[in-house]
Amino acid sequence: MKKTVTLTLNGSTIMREVPVNRTMLDFLRDDLKLTGTKCGCGAGECGSCTILVNGEPVNSCLMLATDADGKEVTTIEGLSRDGGLHPLQKAFLAYGAIQCGYCTPGMILSSKALLDRNPHPTIDEIKKALSGNICRCTGYDKIFKAVMSVANGEILDDPVDGVWLQDDLPPRRCEEHKQ
Ligand code: FES
Ligand code: FES
Repeated sequence: MKKTVTLTLNGSTIMREVPVNRTMLDFLRDDLKLTGTKCGCGAGECGSCTILVNGEPVNSCLMLATDADGKEVTTIEGLSRDGGLHPLQKAFLAYGAIQCGYCTPGMILSSKALLDRNPHPTIDEIKKALSGNICRCTGYDKIFKAVMSVANGEILDDPVDGVWLQDDLPPRRCEEHKQ
């Protein structure tokens, strides 16, 4: 059985027929070929499939595509603008907060939801907001620093010509390792 859904996806309105048992994750990856959203566990445990639905982070592996009807959905593909990276994407690169990258889209979208509702979070608020996103590579510290750098205005919100706001960015990782 199928149902027609109409949603705003990354700023564009789309209408599709989807099987009523299709997950949002499969709808995005398999039907729409938006493979930036990752499947880590398929069971709501890892957060790698995080998308924003009406601005709130949601595990797309636990959501039915039909439930997106009438909603505004943002995936990692929707963050870059005019070919440039979002400040959070720049910050993750600058701080080495990416290794395999599998958790990164979910981490960035959960971070975006946090900063949209709380532009100046504490480190504890960042940790809480990302508590549903598991990373097996980075050790989290660099991820938290990357999010904090955006909150602190260290990364310019310029999608095309973004440059580091402070002379000492990106961080000197070799010196950090020696400490
Ligand atoms: S794939 Fe959805 S939470 Fe892990
Ligand atoms: S960078 Fe590999 S899981 Fe996070």
